[in-house]
Amino acid sequence: MIKTITTIPYLDQQPGTSGLRKKTTVFQQVHYIENFIQSIFDSLSGYAGQTLVVGGDGRFLNRSAIQTILKIAAANGFGRTLVGCGGILSTPAVSALIRSRKAFGGVVLSASHNPGGPNGDFGIKYNIGNGGPAPEKITEAIFTRTRTIDAFRIVDDPDVDIDRIGETSLGDMMVEVVDSVENYDALMQSIFDFDLIRAAFHEGLTMRFDAMSAVTGPYAHVILENLLGAAKGTVINGSPLPDFGGHHPDPNLLHARHLYDLAMSDAAPDLCAASDGDGDRNLVIGRGRFVTPSDSLAILAANAHLAPGYKNGLAGIARSMPTSAAADRVAAKLGVPLYETPTGWKFFGNLLDAGLATICGEESAGAGSDHLREKDGLWAILLWLNIIAARKESVDVIVRRHWADYGRNYYSRHDYEEIDSDGANALIAALRESLPRLKGKKYRAIDVLDADDFAYRDPVDGSETSRQGVRILLGDGARLVYRLSGTGTAGATLRVYIERYEPEPSRQYMETQTALADLVALSRELAGIERFTGRNAPSVIT
Ligand code: G1P
Ligand code: ZN
Repeated sequence: MIKTITTIPYLDQQPGTSGLRKKTTVFQQVHYIENFIQSIFDSLSGYAGQTLVVGGDGRFLNRSAIQTILKIAAANGFGRTLVGCGGILSTPAVSALIRSRKAFGGVVLSASHNPGGPNGDFGIKYNIGNGGPAPEKITEAIFTRTRTIDAFRIVDDPDVDIDRIGETSLGDMMVEVVDSVENYDALMQSIFDFDLIRAAFHEGLTMRFDAMSAVTGPYAHVILENLLGAAKGTVINGSPLPDFGGHHPDPNLLHARHLYDLAMSDAAPDLCAASDGDGDRNLVIGRGRFVTPSDSLAILAANAHLAPGYKNGLAGIARSMPTSAAADRVAAKLGVPLYETPTGWKFFGNLLDAGLATICGEESAGAGSDHLREKDGLWAILLWLNIIAARKESVDVIVRRHWADYGRNYYSRHDYEEIDSDGANALIAALRESLPRLKGKKYRAIDVLDADDFAYRDPVDGSETSRQGVRILLGDGARLVYRLSGTGTAGATLRVYIERYEPEPSRQYMETQTALADLVALSRELAGIERFTGRNAPSVIT
């Protein structure tokens, strides 16, 4: 039976860079999830009888939210929902499933790399029929709807068993519980040379993959250990836990420090890798060599032709604006266009759909391709494995040869987390206001060539997005970028991106912070970071 339940709106349900993301306790408020899901459906049309994909990274609330979503979807007229067994689907797996099953859309439950559990974070994101995050037009419509919603529709039925593969009906809708990994691993086998990688493992290639007790465990066990023959024990923390074992499932040098230490030790395997809570980010560290995400994007693009899925070359490369310009040099050499987009994966969707770009990436450990419409952690790691197996070279050698050929972009991001929102907004406002005066100035012998607030015009649909970050272009390929995070859940986070180009091989082996020291000092001075935020040092440096 379908029930219509009256409700009153919450006024804070504005989707950010990657959906609605809040503290778990916020989502636990009465009808908070119901309101948002009904608002999503109210903002869409034409889904009667269609298929919806639902899954998440297994964090606390995942299972109960899925039951709510199934019941609201049934009451709103969806014909079928596909749910990952146990509620588990990585973000890239949702994207792949939407595409291969020609679903109308999908709902992803995750707060990505943020901690989970009752005291952690939760999130809901809607993806459209191409498998990618909903464009701004839709997320804005959803937000508008959340502010006036007065009722939601739900079927009054018992919970569905989501731990058994197969079909169950719920109202007039069919719930199909699917294997979480199957569809995704088939896609990976169609892109990469599994025989070649299997042979490399057989010949002694060693690897450690940390699933961080998050969603990629089941995928990594199947793909790396079962299908590619990596030694048992290659995958660690391979079972998804509701609180990720109390850890922060963010594969960066802070939260995956143990992998870095292992990679730099005498016991280092050839490749150390990790993915985040929902499986879309990647960390790659070779024996003795950390690969920055910006370099990784450039190296993957330069070598992608070694994997069968990209043997015909790339149509183009896309990167988010704050990502380093290393990929630009690869695009120039390949003679393909380079697209610079605002932060957030959704901006790559149109470029991929239109066949303008093949590989995309962000400095925040995200890379992906036209195989689906999200960034994809395991995809990036498999492409690295395919390249290592084809070139028969170590990660370190591959990176050093890349720098020798293209030059090195020294790059670092400094985050000032949980700062006061008013101070953060005032800092950005003051920077914007100073832009016209910056051009042509000289600071510490560094010339300001140009300064602007990044705006983007989508080459496919012409939509405009403005105020996406202050860029200060300096001499010799150096650059400073300032923007406020759109994914934080407490206060504001100021991100400062610092970059410098070094073409000369003999100067490519400095420690990154040392190589960037002058620019870091300039970044603080120019924006008055201490004055506006009260902080004299960033909370995280990556
Ligand atoms: C961060 C990253 C951005 C990424 C997003 C979602 O967003 O910087 O590249 O797309 O997470 O994973 P931010 O907090 O900077 O808005
Ligand atoms: Zn993620």
